[in-house]
Amino acid sequence: MTRRLYLSPPHVGEDERRLILDAFDSNWIAPLGPQVDAFEQEMCDRLGCGHAVALSSGTAALHLALLILGVKPRDKVLVSTLTFSATANAVTYCDAVPVFVDCHPDSWCIDPSLVAEELERAARAGESYAAVVTVDLYGQCADYDRIREVCSRHGVPLVQDAAEALGANYRGIPAGRQGDLSILSFNGNKIITTSGGGMLLTDRKDRADQARFLATQARDPAPHYQHSHIGYNYRMSNLLAALGRGQLLHLAEKVEARRRNYRTYEAALGKHPGIHFMPEAPYGRSTRWLTCLTIDPAAFGATREEIRLTLEAENIESRPVWKPMHLQPVFADCRYVGRGISDAIFADGLCLPSGSGMTDGDLARVVGLILG
Ligand SMILES: Cc1ncc(COP(=O)(O)O)c(C=O)c1O
Repeated sequence: MTRRLYLSPPHVGEDERRLILDAFDSNWIAPLGPQVDAFEQEMCDRLGCGHAVALSSGTAALHLALLILGVKPRDKVLVSTLTFSATANAVTYCDAVPVFVDCHPDSWCIDPSLVAEELERAARAGESYAAVVTVDLYGQCADYDRIREVCSRHGVPLVQDAAEALGANYRGIPAGRQGDLSILSFNGNKIITTSGGGMLLTDRKDRADQARFLATQARDPAPHYQHSHIGYNYRMSNLLAALGRGQLLHLAEKVEARRRNYRTYEAALGKHPGIHFMPEAPYGRSTRWLTCLTIDPAAFGATREEIRLTLEAENIESRPVWKPMHLQPVFADCRYVGRGISDAIFADGLCLPSGSGMTDGDLARVVGLILG
């Protein structure tokens, strides 16, 4: 059997090896340490944001973002439905209630008009939302000018889940700068990885301080262990931050490699009837973290699932587009605001192998199998 081609595997090199061995040799084998401080500073420099807090995962970063915004039990939080479950799970960790919003067909990200309609309806009904959580899907930013305007009109804070979008931009501004609080993920499948990890981004020092406090078990300033709040063990380890620093050095190349994957797929498949690629919205630059498309079976002559299984039979991993949260059994009781766009994308959508280490031969193999 040929080597397995994964959807989005880690892609590491000599810089990562050198930095992680330096961290090892320094004996800073602990959560926190100089590599964590440097990783945070280098991310701030790259994105132009005030503060970055390195954490154990993107999910932890989402949880802390909501806590810092004061999200409480039974509060309502508006969440993009087309996402990975971690976005919605973080809301439930606060015992708050997610309300799911459909995406826009031109971006696959949350539809700003639906956010506006729902916040207006809530205001008329005397209800309130504690936060809006957007998702920068598959490497593409949501439409922040419109979303920020609606959120500020209603006084609702914005959390930007940019887990999948490091390296993208919105109107020239790096992804991760658009939320009141924003988060990144460095999970093994992301554009850069620390094997597992995440980051909380903010321009406010008080919020970064609060995140560090909550992420290190909420220790009061005292020589003994004293606690006046419930805390979490959410900080990133020094070893993993070294890996992240090495990866960050190569972010631009990784974005280019992923965009090149997309261009190759698009050139080979885009002209075939029934194949439609995830659009790139005119307001920004996507990383094309994953190349995603929909397949209309009547026009193309095969279903998304038939294509996925054809690839799988040749040891190639592809995946259906995220199953929307409002269709998940665990969120069956939650409200949904939408027009079925994400349902349709899920029904026909497929994510193709998109790693930044893919060769021309890998891409040709995938294309050849899809075209049969
Ligand atoms: C949109 C989105 N949000 C949140 C997460 C969670 O990040 P992590 O796996 O680092 O907890 C992921 C991916 O894993 C994601 O794709």
